[in-house]
Amino acid sequence: MNVVIMAGGSGTRFWPLSREKRPKQFLDIIGDRPMIFQTYERIRPLASDKDIYVVVGQNHEEETRKIFSSTGVSIVVEPFGRNTAPCIGLAALIISSHDQDEPVVILPADHYIVKPDVFRQDILKALKVASEEDCIVTLGILPTRPETGYGYIEREERDLGVPGLYRVKMFVEKPDIETAKRYLESGRFFWNAGIFIAKPSVLLKEFEKYMPSFYRGLLELKAHIGKPSFDRVLRRVYEDVENISFDYAIMEKTDRPVYVVASDCGWSDVGSWYSLYELRAVDEASKEGNVVDGDGAFFHSRRCFVMNRSGRWIALLGLEGVLVVDTPDALLVARLEDHQKVREITDFLKREG
Ligand code: GDD
Ligand code: MG
Repeated sequence: MNVVIMAGGSGTRFWPLSREKRPKQFLDIIGDRPMIFQTYERIRPLASDKDIYVVVGQNHEEETRKIFSSTGVSIVVEPFGRNTAPCIGLAALIISSHDQDEPVVILPADHYIVKPDVFRQDILKALKVASEEDCIVTLGILPTRPETGYGYIEREERDLGVPGLYRVKMFVEKPDIETAKRYLESGRFFWNAGIFIAKPSVLLKEFEKYMPSFYRGLLELKAHIGKPSFDRVLRRVYEDVENISFDYAIMEKTDRPVYVVASDCGWSDVGSWYSLYELRAVDEASKEGNVVDGDGAFFHSRRCFVMNRSGRWIALLGLEGVLVVDTPDALLVARLEDHQKVREITDFLKREG
């Protein structure tokens, strides 16, 4: 099998820890390694390094090479981010140029999975399907709220004789809140975990059909693989391609068979300080729901989260539901429940410099 780790995203919801220079996948906010490396370690028992490709933007190339220096994985560098569709197309092209068509497992670099063993079992189940048929396989997570930031996967009524394996009826990326509520109530929808499994040839055929001019660019690029001219041609292809996610470009449109493996692997996309707090509060059997990362202590406080990367000691006294993130050059103090509003701060900083 092949593995592609997509790591070109640029989220800022973990301000002040994440900055443009250090998006979430490069932070060690859960576990003691950057999330991108944990993604690699999680899949490593199933794949060899020579078949693992990490796709990043030029601006993160150096840091990525450092993180993976002890491994034999390939780092694929994009001149700039154009979202996940071009990233997946480029990776499929490079893998297929090695004259092999083993399915590729496409993984986001910035997710956390509580039960890696279950995750690997589910990936193996998906791989079997993807190697037997020219299809796309997804991983489905049982939804718990009408989240509008995810893709939704509608499954057929019955499984396919293998428990938890379904044919997919429809894929809808990021529906509005009313639609998301309906999907949740119907009981027939999964959240899309952002993980796709398919043969490289299947992916390339999808690009040929739904992004034909990008596909022509890829064909042209193929002749330059391994040559000094590669970067120049890649830049031109990327300048021309639409900025679009694989979910919108392919998953919503494809008329190929799509399957979903229901996964109870404890998936989280760690979308905000609050979801990180929830994960860590369970993880660390915290007292009174308090969690501290770094030096600090709580007094008469409940459900507080301190992320301390400043070097000084932090004490919270008589507080409830408070988030403190301290770094050498910026400090955030907020109500935990305001986690979605952190982007107002980064927007402000962008405007005001
Ligand atoms: N190399 C590269 N280049 N990677 C990218 C790029 C790019 O231009 N853009 C995004 N990525 C990486 C991100 O770093 C992340 O690991 C992954 O691709 C997914 O991108 P996101 O931007 O985080 O997507 P999303 O969270 O809005 O939506 C996707 O994930 C959801 C689950 O977390 C979709 O697949 C949804 O359907 C899904 O529910
Ligand atoms: Mg994401």
